[in-house]
Amino acid sequence: MVNFKLMRILGIETSCDDTSMGVVENGKLISIVRTSSEEFHVRYGGVVPEIAARKHLELFPFVLKEVLRRGKLKLKDIEGISVTFGPGLVGSLLVGTELAKTLSFFLKIPFVGVNHLEGHIYSIFFEYKMDFPFLTLLISGGHTEIILVQGHLKYKIIGTTLDDACGEIIDKIGRKLGFPYPAGKELDKLALKGNPDRYNFTLPRFKNRKRRFSFSFSGMKTQALNIINSKNFVLEDLVSSLFKGISEELLDRIKLASKETGITNISVVGGVSASKFLRERFRREKGLNFYFPSPELSTDNGGMIALVGEEYLKRGFYSSFELDAVSHLKLGENPYLKSDRI
Ligand code: KG4
Ligand code: ZN
Repeated sequence: MVNFKLMRILGIETSCDDTSMGVVENGKLISIVRTSSEEFHVRYGGVVPEIAARKHLELFPFVLKEVLRRGKLKLKDIEGISVTFGPGLVGSLLVGTELAKTLSFFLKIPFVGVNHLEGHIYSIFFEYKMDFPFLTLLISGGHTEIILVQGHLKYKIIGTTLDDACGEIIDKIGRKLGFPYPAGKELDKLALKGNPDRYNFTLPRFKNRKRRFSFSFSGMKTQALNIINSKNFVLEDLVSSLFKGISEELLDRIKLASKETGITNISVVGGVSASKFLRERFRREKGLNFYFPSPELSTDNGGMIALVGEEYLKRGFYSSFELDAVSHLKLGENPYLKSDRI
């Protein structure tokens, strides 16, 4: 029987190149550490899975020690563990899941595997209460989703990207322009300086009703790459116009989703939501209430994983030791979940 009177949850996030851990105590973030193997991928222009996995292995003892030190905690103070088991790079995810299982076994405490996307959804709860239902726009290097959040641990994806994620095209265009991976933060600064009306970047709209809230970013990427290949452009204006195009398209779909669902409270989460350009544009929109996490909680972090894990564990849900990394894990899918309360 598992003890569900949990107080302090350790969250472990290793789905891509960030090695991060956070500790949550009754919904509050009491410690967080974020490290990344970013610099080791720069010369390859994107994340190299094997390097990312090896760096997680090297970094986790330091990250674990540091997250406990910052929270003035001992390992024995941790009462539950939450870990990302997908989606992401399998080798990277495996480092996190094996660590979670090992700690769970030796400390005799429960652990739960959670979806990386759930973590991003929960990142908003550190700073805002958010009444259900609300909409979440999740924009990151790997995802572009519109999610209907119906209640705790109850979500439905209503719009998605059919090709590249919006952070992915920002990073690819940044790479072509000679910026190190990931380029989002640097391009965001340039976007604020340029003329956003210099170029017109738009996305196709889908006639198919099922896809009315969805995106296809690949055309926008080709359009930007063609301008770059022409060698006749002003850098700031190109980047500013691109950020405007992305922001307007995201807004267009979220406005449609809001109109159809009647929901006006919208959280905007994931790495791209750290963009100042995007935040300024969204906040000018009338009739919708946008909520953004602090930029350091927008990008991947172990704190958000601890927070969603706390929600599972306090409801009596935990994972079995068969838990495995699932690279294409879908939101709502959790085959290893167990409950002593059923
Ligand atoms: O959520 P995240 O850390 O990782 C994934 O789950 O993918 O998001 C990373 C993405 C990258 O594409 C990065 O370029 C982008 O977020 N990003 C930004 C900013 N900071 C990070 N994009 C625009 N503006 C930013 N300030
Ligand atoms: Zn992420």
